[in-house]
Amino acid sequence: METPLVVDIHTHVYPPSYMDMLRARRTVPYVHDPPSGALPRLIILSSDDDQSIPLDQRGRPVDTSYSDINVKLAFMRQHGINSSVISLANPWLDFLAPEEAQIWAQRINDDLEGTCARVNSAADPEKRLGLHEKETLFAMGALPLSAPSADIIVGEIHRLKTLPHIRGVIMGTSGLGKGLDDRRLDLVWAALQETGLILFLHPHYGLPDEAFGGPDATNRYGHVLPLALGFPLETTIAVTRMLLSGVFDRFSRLKILLAHSGGTLPFLAGRIESCILHERKFLANGGNVPGPQRSVWDILRTNIYLDAVVYGKAGLEAAVQASGGADRLLFGTDHPFFPPLDDKEGEDWPSVTTNYKAINASFAGDADSISAVLGGNAVRILDLK
Ligand code: URA
Ligand code: ZN
Repeated sequence: METPLVVDIHTHVYPPSYMDMLRARRTVPYVHDPPSGALPRLIILSSDDDQSIPLDQRGRPVDTSYSDINVKLAFMRQHGINSSVISLANPWLDFLAPEEAQIWAQRINDDLEGTCARVNSAADPEKRLGLHEKETLFAMGALPLSAPSADIIVGEIHRLKTLPHIRGVIMGTSGLGKGLDDRRLDLVWAALQETGLILFLHPHYGLPDEAFGGPDATNRYGHVLPLALGFPLETTIAVTRMLLSGVFDRFSRLKILLAHSGGTLPFLAGRIESCILHERKFLANGGNVPGPQRSVWDILRTNIYLDAVVYGKAGLEAAVQASGGADRLLFGTDHPFFPPLDDKEGEDWPSVTTNYKAINASFAGDADSISAVLGGNAVRILDLK
């Protein structure tokens, strides 16, 4: 049997222009170049910028794998990945001043489109996505969410639709500053629904430090608490607020891909649904607000797609159960985050092999499902041709 096509739909870049912009900043998010010549430091999480830690040790080291597309192509080759859908990494363009947002969104999106076009034109078009001989790229665009008017965001969504390699948009959980249940986002949801671009919802802000015992506890355990727990809960809260506010009632054809297998949504869907039924009507501002019309299960099986970046069989099986089968689950790596600790030349990344193993273990003996999750679903859902 032919080896299945492998598509990585969760893989990030910081284009060189974005890195330069972060280098010019002194507040989060920023990049610091240690005078010692050691690797630059990426200081993007608010907990990273602890003044009691020397600047040269804050955040995390950032090497060329974040910005050099050839390093990503080599990573793909090493891990048997045929095609990647690249996206700007967090915190995207969230922090930009309103007057800068549009120009940066266009610059980053044109850069992503140009990179995909260049790489794909070097690949043999006859063999692309067929015989697995050359790596190909597609991309998710970034949105100018801090722009002074929602029309600018909507305009960029329509422009993205005209770029041949863009298949969706990546977005954090803050929206226009008030979360994703903000009615002002309806224009954005409408534009995404109309263009058919998928919304890739990805965490960045985590939970407040107090949820983990304050800065002392957070520092004691490095990034474990914010990344292992803060990120998935942030995604869960954001998508649940969308559900509760009826976004999927109003935009029943909106497609949304949730990072990290939906955070904890597959596991908590039953509890969320039960709480909604028991509340039935929400009391808000002294009035009765009707709850969402559609059930969480319906939305999970109609609007929501989940990546398979969950590093274990139990989480993956919850995702399969919640989404009603294998056809809404898509392989991803989260590259270049989570590199091997000892970085031996040529060593496979445990963060990638763990996900491969979980997929193989969850669908043992079911070659069709394995091949769907590894790449077939991405090709179909994102129209990768
Ligand atoms: N850490 C991040 O900041 N972003 C990711 O996507 C993964 C890990
Ligand atoms: Zn990610």
